[in-house]
Amino acid sequence: MVETNSEGKEGKVTRRQFARGFLLAAVAGAFGSLLSLLKVLSPPASKGGGYVATVALGDLLVYAKGSRQGSLLKASDFQVGDAVLAYPQGKTGNEANLVQLIRMKEKEFKPPTRLELTDQGFVAYSAICTHLGCTVSWMKNEKDPGASYTECFCHNSIFNPARGARVIGGPAPIPLAQIGVKVSKDGTLVFTSGFSGPVGPQV
Ligand code: FES
Repeated sequence: MVETNSEGKEGKVTRRQFARGFLLAAVAGAFGSLLSLLKVLSPPASKGGGYVATVALGDLLVYAKGSRQGSLLKASDFQVGDAVLAYPQGKTGNEANLVQLIRMKEKEFKPPTRLELTDQGFVAYSAICTHLGCTVSWMKNEKDPGASYTECFCHNSIFNPARGARVIGGPAPIPLAQIGVKVSKDGTLVFTSGFSGPVGPQV
């Protein structure tokens, strides 16, 4: 059987070839449209990593881990050089809300630490590393509490809590975001602001 082209004539482009080409073009077009749609619907693969904090002013801080998990933090529980992971009460299911609360000597705070977000030596930062989102740890220096620091063991990023949690080592691209805390009259700790910057991975 002789195949004819789209104009009914014999030629290099047959009707079957024309139909196959048309079908391939249609599939490619649909695939392109699908990719564009997914691009719009999906969050960016990097910055923020989908972390959305829901801390509100007035939220009380509770222990995030250990035997006291879920109970209220009290200022009297902390010596200079101590730190703990904490959540806002009732919002413990959202990792973006996880903070590291640290007690230091007030005079040790230096810029860019936001002094108005500290109280009685208490300072709090996001506990989610800005590299790839691991939870940070506290490295207490028993002999010299002022030389303590925050570290992420995933890739060894180091943050200086006395200087706005700026990065002093490792691949983290930006500091941990600070968040306001203060000691209430009854000695519990309460959030006084939202985070000062983005929370979660920023690479
Ligand atoms: S996730 Fe913290 S250093 Fe990589």
